Amino acid sequence: MIAHGIRPSAAALRLSGEGAFEALARARELEALGRDVIHLEVGEPDFNTPEHVKRAGIAAIEHNATHYSPSAGIARLRDAIAEYAGRFRGVPAYSRDEVVVSPGLKPLIWNVMCALLDAGDQVLFADPAYPSYAGCSAYLQAEALPIPLLESSDFRLDLDVLAAKISDRTKLLILNSPHNPTGGVLTRSDLERIAELAIRHDVTVVSDEIYCRNLYEGTFASIATLDGMRERTILLDGFSKAYAMTGWRLGYGIMPAPVAKIVALVGQNTYSCTAPFVQEAGVAALEGPDDPVRAMVDEFRVRRDVIVAGLNSLPGITCRTPLGAFYAFPNVSQITSDDRKLASFFLEEANVAALGGSCFGAAGRGYMRFSYANSLEAIDTAIERMREALPRFTA
Ligand SMILES: Cc1ncc(COP(=O)(O)O)c(C=O)c1O
Repeated sequence: MIAHGIRPSAAALRLSGEGAFEALARARELEALGRDVIHLEVGEPDFNTPEHVKRAGIAAIEHNATHYSPSAGIARLRDAIAEYAGRFRGVPAYSRDEVVVSPGLKPLIWNVMCALLDAGDQVLFADPAYPSYAGCSAYLQAEALPIPLLESSDFRLDLDVLAAKISDRTKLLILNSPHNPTGGVLTRSDLERIAELAIRHDVTVVSDEIYCRNLYEGTFASIATLDGMRERTILLDGFSKAYAMTGWRLGYGIMPAPVAKIVALVGQNTYSCTAPFVQEAGVAALEGPDDPVRAMVDEFRVRRDVIVAGLNSLPGITCRTPLGAFYAFPNVSQITSDDRKLASFFLEEANVAALGGSCFGAAGRGYMRFSYANSLEAIDTAIERMREALPRFTA
């Protein structure tokens, strides 16, 4: 019972919160008490949305693009996405009817899973992983099987375990490369092996590519571009991370047209449509200058190197160099296996907000996630604060 006479559904009770939002809330409470907290918990670029994108959004409001719009997205944005997504991945342009736009990628993850999974269906994804995959699986009573990541190979999926777990009973395989929370990136040969398994077992792949622009070495490879995969991949992407547009709420998926219809129908039944002026800003982001995206990535690369060196300089902490996204995922197991206790200690005692790795799944135990979407100065200060506080930590 949550209030007099009001009982939550069993499905809602299977949901859990997202660690980043919970840590942020506690950090804000401490700030309200006058504490100076360094935010390394939330996964959002600290840069401002590029100027030309803001202008396009404002102009669209002034031109009264403020009404309901088609559930799958406005034609101009769907066309821009279809062209851009193909060009960026080096494949022929997609078509408008393969594109579904959504108010942020998170609701689209939910809608795709709702569109494809029934209770008892099997779904595979990494452990640790972005919490939405587990949340929606639990809500739908799908059977989620975790695939471990290998720290020794910079947090790529353990493909031998994947090969052992995938079967004709598997309905969906969710990939996320570059990966939240570890920064791991799947190689082209990993993707080839995964594609071969997906085809052999007739599994649909959901490829969450929201960090595809946040890549520090090499060129991005999407499983959707491999032979035989376009028709069985649901490619997910969005504007939050690449264009510093987290608060605008704008994401999209590309999938075979009949699937797009069903996913858009689920969207129509939940949020109806995505704000049209936000979509116009999205058109400007894709069609305007790309330099702001590259400048952000260059800056993230510098910060990554600083935070990784800083974390490795702390006693008991070891940190691999992440190849993508903007998270460092150090191993803290020499200090404690209770990563959440350590995260809470750093927040309460050192005014540094970061997350315990187990917020992202059981296999995240003994790790922490630091978002390096903060200034170099803040990162340096955070490292020094943790160095000073660590001797007082009791495991
Ligand atoms: C892997 C991954 N997918 C999807 C999202 C959702 O992004 P948004 O809803 O802001 O578009 C996030 C955000 O942190 C993420 O890390």
